[in-house]
Amino acid sequence: MPRDGFGREINYLRISVTDRCNLRCVYCMPLNGLRFLPGPELLTAVEIEQLVRVAVSIGFAKFRLTGGEPTLRADLLEIVARLAAIDGVGDLALTTNALLLPRLAQPLKRAGLKRVNIHLDSLNPATLERQMRWGNFAAVWDGIMAAEAAGLVPIKLNVVVAAGYNEEEAVELARLTLERDWQVRFIELMPLGGGECASLSIQRYVSNIETRRRIETALGALTALEQGDLSDEARNYRLPGARGVVGFISPVSEPYCGTCNRMRLTADGKFHLCLLNDDELDVRKALRSDQGTQALARILRRAVELKPTGHHLLEGRSTQVRSMYQIGG
Ligand code: 5AD
Ligand code: SF4
Repeated sequence: MPRDGFGREINYLRISVTDRCNLRCVYCMPLNGLRFLPGPELLTAVEIEQLVRVAVSIGFAKFRLTGGEPTLRADLLEIVARLAAIDGVGDLALTTNALLLPRLAQPLKRAGLKRVNIHLDSLNPATLERQMRWGNFAAVWDGIMAAEAAGLVPIKLNVVVAAGYNEEEAVELARLTLERDWQVRFIELMPLGGGECASLSIQRYVSNIETRRRIETALGALTALEQGDLSDEARNYRLPGARGVVGFISPVSEPYCGTCNRMRLTADGKFHLCLLNDDELDVRKALRSDQGTQALARILRRAVELKPTGHHLLEGRSTQVRSMYQIGG
């Protein structure tokens, strides 16, 4: 397994397959002024497969497809099938807003996808529409049900908590875990990209310390679960008598850079070395000039070696060149 300059073993690659989305969550995508990558700039299914083969050959085992919204890729099933067929791809997951899952969950499962993380900020339709602009609660819920029915489990729900939007609703979302074997994870806002979404992410920030207190006040004390996977960015807990898990992802109040195991690949073929820094290494040029597997492996090894640690969220700084929808979380 490749190690970075800080001794961290990096074996998890998150692959953004598009920068487009069918939603406009307030903290992620502005309504105006968006410019998307032209088609030819995107890595093709074949190119993604090539890179994943290289990644597996140097010790990567976990893969996740992200966006933007990855289900908007017309050839998503082909991408999944190609990756699932590679020996050594242990885990293959997808992060999605679930809107297209009623149609896609079964085919994705058949193509070899293991599981999905679904982004859902509220169980209240009005709040959801305000926060995840263009969103529709019933449609997201149908998508979650379709994922569960297709066996894309364990179901993990990602809740981004924003003051003045959904912070009161953390309780109802956590309550889902009483009856359901799901992991509901609360994520602290991060300012990415330097634009209006980054400003909102600073202004509306809610610490998970507060979210946890709100949940415990309403539903009882949370019991800490053993950290099975040390690189899991969530701290996991269980409510009294609950079937599922409540998790907290706290990049601001409790940074987890020390156990980070991930590399990111952008839709236009750059290794983005850390979500919260600007450093990138282009790999598309090497792919498209047929430099061969060895050259690609060298670039990925180099990307791992150069991976920075530490972030500057508390000073309100993170990546300026890319927004969340251009990296995929
Ligand atoms: N801060 C924290 N999380 C965010 N996401 C999108 N924008 C932000 C932000 N500003 C999350 C979404 C999605 C994942 C890819 O990133 O909830 O689940
Ligand atoms: Fe789309 Fe996810 Fe960004 Fe929301 S957070 S706009 S669903 S990419």
